[in-house]
Order: sequence, then C-alpha cells, then structure tokens
Amino acid sequence: MFSLVFISTVAVATASVQFKVGGDKGWTKPIGNNSEPYNEWASRNRFHVGDSLYFKYNIDSVLVVNRTSYTDCSVANPTFKFKDGETVFEFDRYGLFYFISGESGHCKAGQKLIVRVMVHPAAAISSPQPAQSPMEDDGSNDNGDGWASIWGPPPHNSTIKQTVASYFMTALGGMLVIMYLLM
Ligand SMILES: *[C@@H]1O[C@H](CO)[C@@H](O)[C@H](O)[C@H]1NC(C)=O
Ligand SMILES: *[C@@H]1O[C@H](CO)[C@@H](O)[C@H](O)[C@H]1NC(C)=O
Repeated sequence: MFSLVFISTVAVATASVQFKVGGDKGWTKPIGNNSEPYNEWASRNRFHVGDSLYFKYNIDSVLVVNRTSYTDCSVANPTFKFKDGETVFEFDRYGLFYFISGESGHCKAGQKLIVRVMVHPAAAISSPQPAQSPMEDDGSNDNGDGWASIWGPPPHNSTIKQTVASYFMTALGGMLVIMYLLM
C-alpha cells in the first residue's frame, strides 16, 4: 500500500512539462505589431512548479530579473543571465518569474515574459493545510497581462503529459482516500 502511494507520488513529480518559449520562432525580438507576444503566449498556458521553459535563441540572451527591472527593461544585475543559445529554466517555486532579453532594444520591443507559476496540484492534494493560492502570492500587482485566461484549457503540446499526470493524480487521490478510511 505504502509503496503504491510512493510510486504514484513519484509519477506525479516527474510529469512535468517543458514549454518552448515562442514556439518555432524561439526567443527572438518580436516583429510586427503584437507588442507582447510572449506574455500573450504565457497567458494561454499553465505553469507549475517543476515545469520548465526552453529558450532557443541566436545572438541574444535570457535575463531573469525582478519586477522593477522587468518594467524598466533594465539589464543591470539580473538574478540570472544565460547566453549560450539554449536555456532550460526550471521553476523551483511558485509565484511570478520575469524574463527579458539582454540585447539592446529587444526588451523595449516586447521581448519580455512574465510567468505565473502555480503550485503543482499533487502538492495541494497531499498537503494537510490548504496550499497558499499562487493567485494571491507575492504582493505584486498584475497590470492586465491577460492572466484571466490562465485557467483556460491546457496547451496542445502538453496534453499527453497532463493526461498522464491526471491519471496518476486520480490514483494518488484514491490511495489517500483508502488510507484515510483505514485509519
Ligand atoms: C499592424 O501593422 C501593420 C503594418 O505595420 C498595419 O498595416 C496593421 O494595420 C497593423 N495592425 C494592427 C491591428 O494594428
Ligand atoms: C531589482 O534588481 C535591481 C538590479 O539588481 C536592483 O537594483 C533593485 O534594487 C531590485 N529591486 C527590488 C525591488 O528588489
């Protein structure tokens, strides 16, 4: 019984999703008049702790910054800086993450991204206290970046993994119910 629960938990933990930022175009300075294509993309997806972003780029960089630097497109003293052309950034906590390009003028042209990372559903199920809602997390305000649609349908590219995840979620939930009844 306990090993089954353990296996289910591990399966949930490994069902993380890697999102390719910008799709086929990758992480690049936006052209055209969509001012914030990356935020529009992010608003159509759901991100959880353990998921990761895959940035593919050429002669560019990825800076992880705080809200102030994001708003100002400031490239000074970023939290992290990547410029090797292929970056995988894994979310190790819930809350907001801010990404900008470090190339001159790119951030101002809209090469910037805010990601709201939610607690993994498995963590919410197995924790005795209700997990703090990521929607009311770190005191920062939203400026209408389209987060309302964050609760929309899951993205195409992660449907299979999410299906696997929900299967194990169901299994885990069943185990917990059974354990509860036995105690
Ligand atoms: C986008 O820009 C093109 C030319 O740059 C213009 O013709 C078009 O009207 C613009 N579309 C919107 C929705 O602003
Ligand atoms: C944001 O980061 C910049 C650059 O490291 C720093 O100067 C600034 O104090 C930070 N702001 C906050 C609110 O932490």
